[in-house]
Order: sequence, then C-alpha cells, then structure tokens
Amino acid sequence: MKPLTIAIDGHSSTGKSTLAKQLAKALGYVYVDSGAMYRAVALNALRNGWVSKEDGVQASKINAHLETLVIDFELDQMGTNTTLLNGEVVEEEIRSMRVSNVVSHVAKLVPVRRHLVSLQQAMGENGGVVMDGRDIGTVVFPNAELKIFMTASDEVRASRRKAELDAKGQVHFIEDVLENLMSRDKADMERVDSPLIAAEDALTLDNSSMTREEQFHRVLGWVAALQK
Ligand code: DC
Repeated sequence: MKPLTIAIDGHSSTGKSTLAKQLAKALGYVYVDSGAMYRAVALNALRNGWVSKEDGVQASKINAHLETLVIDFELDQMGTNTTLLNGEVVEEEIRSMRVSNVVSHVAKLVPVRRHLVSLQQAMGENGGVVMDGRDIGTVVFPNAELKIFMTASDEVRASRRKAELDAKGQVHFIEDVLENLMSRDKADMERVDSPLIAAEDALTLDNSSMTREEQFHRVLGWVAALQK
C-alpha cells in the first residue's frame, strides 16, 4: 500500500507535534516538525542581531544568509526528534520564549517561506511522512491524503504551553504565555503569504476536552478509513 502523506496544521500549542509523533511512530513514517525549521532560522537571526521583539526584522540579512543554514533532524538516544542548526543541537534553545517572541516576524518573510517549503517538500517527496505546521495542507502538500486542522480553547492551549515551559525550568506568567500564543496566531493568520487557514478538505480536530489517547484513536480511525 502506498504510504500516505499526513498534513497537520492548526493554532499554536494545540498538540500538533504530539499527535504527529504518535502517528509517525505507529505507522513507521518520518515525522517533520516544520515549525522547528522556522524557529531555527529565527534563532540564527537572533544570534546575529537581525531580529528583535522591539525593532522587528532586518529582512535583507536574513534572506541573504538562508543558503548558508543547514537545518536537519536526528533522533537522540531516547528516540526523540532533535533539531540541528549547522550541526549544533538547538532543540531546547529554539523552544525558548526568546525565540517564540520573534519567530512570527521571520516566518512572514517570503524568501524564508519559499526556501523552507522547498526543503519540506523534498523531505516528504516519497510519502510516508507526517508533517505539522501552519501551511502544510494548503501549500507544502496540497495533495496530502489526510489533512487535519487542530484547534483548542485559548485557556487550554496556554496552560499546556506553560506546563511544557515549566517542565524545562523556563518559568513564565500564564498571561505572558497566553499573550505570546494569541499574537503568534494573529500574525500567522494575517500574513499575506500562506496564512494559517484550514484547507478546504481538512478534518477539524478540537481537542479542548479530549485526552491524547482519545484524539490519537480518532485519527487512527481516519487513517484506517483511507487505507481500506
Ligand atoms: O509550530 P511552532 O509553534 O513551533 O511554529 C513556530 C512558528 O513558526 C509559528 O509561530 C508559526 C511559524 N510556522 C509557519 O509559519 N509555518 C509553518 N509551516 C510552521 C510554523
């Protein structure tokens, strides 16, 4: 049976990567976290002083250096997906609020999107891939066999994100976490190039009051229906 392409899009902190990883593991597919790629470009821009929360982006600098970046993924000893930027493990650093606060500025640059979309399409060209992001079902893989659009209430999303940050010792006020989620969603939905929007043929999954297991089994049912 031909391996499927599964596109998972949705709002920030709706558990897209958790579901994507569960599915990839169960199906023996490759998991690609497209958001990590935007975060890696943002981290590189921060380190070089090309972006800040206050002053925004120096687009020409970021765009001119895209080809010099090598972004890839490897599995660590625990079998966890780890992001590498020019060979350096940046998995934890790209999840910090410092990066979250500026990544939307970087993700709206058209050359950045073109560059990362073509890398993502190459990673998934043979199918057997689960990719999560904001434009996977609309732009990266418009012909994906299964498209899922995830959402959840603002309160549920903020408390999940805060718990994740707390667990890493990065303690922030819930109000700041919520504010960051809302402003990233707004930027993602309002940008001109490939805004966050559900593909017409996406199945919506609101997991505000669902457990991970309930959600996983519902989606496995969708996969099984496609494989019949
Ligand atoms: O999924 P995430 O929160 O790690 O994504 C980080 C940011 O990157 C998010 O604010 C929006 C952007 N992004 C995007 O524009 N397109 C994607 N395919 C994935 C992420």
